[in-house]
Amino acid sequence: MNNFTFYSPTFFSFGKDAEQQAGDLVKRFGGSKVLIHYGGGSVVRSGLLGRVKASLDDAGVPYVELGGVKPNPRSGLVYEGIELCRREDVDFVLAVGGGSTIDSSKAIAAGVIYDGDFWDFYSGKYIEKALPVGTILTIAAAGSEGSPDSVITNENGMFKRGATGDAIRPKFSILNPALTQTLPAYQTACGITDIMAHLYERYLTNTAEVEVTDRMIEALLLTMIHEGPRVIENPDHYDARANIMWAGMMAHNNSCGVGRSQDWNSHNIEHELSALYDCAHGAGLAVTMPAVFTYVMNHDVMRFAQIAVRVWGCQMDFAHPEATAKAGIEALRHFLISIGMPKNFAELGAKEEDIPKLVDVLCNGDGRPGSISGFVTLNEQDCAKIYQLMV
Ligand code: NZQ
Ligand code: ZN
Repeated sequence: MNNFTFYSPTFFSFGKDAEQQAGDLVKRFGGSKVLIHYGGGSVVRSGLLGRVKASLDDAGVPYVELGGVKPNPRSGLVYEGIELCRREDVDFVLAVGGGSTIDSSKAIAAGVIYDGDFWDFYSGKYIEKALPVGTILTIAAAGSEGSPDSVITNENGMFKRGATGDAIRPKFSILNPALTQTLPAYQTACGITDIMAHLYERYLTNTAEVEVTDRMIEALLLTMIHEGPRVIENPDHYDARANIMWAGMMAHNNSCGVGRSQDWNSHNIEHELSALYDCAHGAGLAVTMPAVFTYVMNHDVMRFAQIAVRVWGCQMDFAHPEATAKAGIEALRHFLISIGMPKNFAELGAKEEDIPKLVDVLCNGDGRPGSISGFVTLNEQDCAKIYQLMV
């Protein structure tokens, strides 16, 4: 295991009606004027936004609002949010929605007190300071409610990049599983896929002797395999939603990623798909993961065989471990298809003729060195072959 530091100071309030604490929690974490940031309207239709405002009113905390965050959140709205916060002397950003809304909120929070262009943070500059952020989560997926990360799409070229910094870890996150019951089945499945990807990206490591985090990841993956189909079949299943929601947080606050190298090539390869075609991140990952894993499997066949046996219940073939490894990847592929995820470029809305463009932005965009690194370093040729496997 490698040396590590781990700092995860988010306060969580989990359970039914937890959103009623929003006003008190904003005050407790120092907010005196709030930006309520939200997406395309699901929180308006569900009545959640009204309940959040009532809670802020009860606590005597004034607020301004900015809705309209799109899935794969755009830089344009971030600039608008920064201006609004400066004009209105906002000192706390409250995200009400999914990962896109939370990421846009984090970008605004960092940008408000920064003299330069907020995009600097998405070009590699570490976020040292930001306004405090709180979240009220409505979809279990991205894990942004407990992560130090934010992913934004730059409209000037339509490419997607991430920023990071402990300053944007939410001060508090309200997780009420009942709020996720209004999700369409497709979005629920996208969330399940993203959570599983966050676990796989950590499982694919070059660090030896990481049994504790291996076992934590396996437990969370087994939870997703158990609860995923139950919630697709019965969207109102509170306890299945609850288990998925906490697994989503655990999968990405890095408690199971410490002390080990991680992959993230599937995410990088997917991000170009959701940036170009505006597909859901989870749907893109469902197509990307089996292709990447098939391509890199021989780098460490035993690691893929281990997850196949421990998580997917495959029989270990000691004479041919690559057969076991492959069976595990196929089990993942079939599981994702069974919960309604796309299986190839066509179902995702992606086009084979765009592969050279995707590869170029992926490997060379925004100062990248002609390759991406992770479990395996992948150059332009490798990435082209991986996209080709998805066709
Ligand atoms: O915009 P509204 O109207 O709210 O609708 C949303 C949106 O259309 C809808 N939705 C959310 N909660 C709902 C609901 N509809 C009905 N009932 C509810 N309770 O679902 C759609 C998707 O929402 P979005 O916020 O985009 O989903 P998600 O949480 O999957 O976030 C995806 C974004 O997170 C980024 C992705 O790249 C993508 O841009 N990621 C962020 C990470 C991070 N910050 O740590 C890590 C992830 O790997 C990921 O890259
Ligand atoms: Zn993700």
